[in-house]
Amino acid sequence: MRAMHLSPDDALLMQIVDDLAERGWSQQNLFLPEALTRKLALECRKRAAEGELAPAGVGRGAAQEVREGIRGDHIQWLEPAQAESCDEYLAVMDALRQALNRGLFLGLEDFESHFALYPPGAFYRRHVDRFRDDDKRMVSAVIYLNDAWLPEHGGQLRMFPKGGDPFDVQPVGGCLAVFLSGDMPHEVLPATRERLSLTGWFRRRGSEPF
Ligand code: OGA
Ligand code: MN
Repeated sequence: MRAMHLSPDDALLMQIVDDLAERGWSQQNLFLPEALTRKLALECRKRAAEGELAPAGVGRGAAQEVREGIRGDHIQWLEPAQAESCDEYLAVMDALRQALNRGLFLGLEDFESHFALYPPGAFYRRHVDRFRDDDKRMVSAVIYLNDAWLPEHGGQLRMFPKGGDPFDVQPVGGCLAVFLSGDMPHEVLPATRERLSLTGWFRRRGSEPF
C-alpha cells in the first residue's frame, strides 16, 4: 500500500476544521484508507493477544484507578517507531493538528493516543475528556477499526452537544469522530462484539510557569 500523505490544507482536513468551528464536532466516515484501517486493527489485536493492553484507569496521575462501572476498555498508549501502521496514523494526525492550528489558532503542540479494545458488554459512562486539574486536552479524535459493524452490534459513541439533540456515531472501520474535548459530554454504549479504536487528544501547552 502507498503511504498516506496528507497536507494540512487537504480539503478533508479543512472540512473538519470548518465543522469544529461551526458546531464543535465533525464526523468523517471515510477518513482512513481501508488498508491502513485493516493494518491498525491487526496491530491492535496482536498487542491484545500479547497481553500489552491493560484495563484503562479513570482520573489522572496518582488519583487514577480502574473502575469497570465507569469504563471497561483495555488500552495501550502509542509510541512512535513501534509499527509502520501506527507511524502512518501519527503522521495523518499530525497533518490534522497543523490544520487545526492554522484554522482555529489553538496552539496544539502535541498528540497523545492509545489503542482501545472494549470486550463485549464493556462501556464508558458519560464523561468529558478534560480533567478538572489539567486543561491541556483541546480536541479529541477517535478512529474506529471495526470490520462490518452493524447498528445492532451496539457500541455507538453517543454525543450530547450543548443546546442540540444527542446523536450517535457508529464505530465503523475508517470513521473519524472529532470534537472539542472540554465541551462535548459523550459515552460509549455496550456492544455485542469486540470494539476496537484509536483514541487521541491534541493538547496545548499547559499553564504551568516553565
Ligand atoms: C474515550 C472515549 C470514545 C469512543 O476514550 O475517552 O470517549 O468512541 N472514547 O471510543
Ligand atoms: Mn471520552
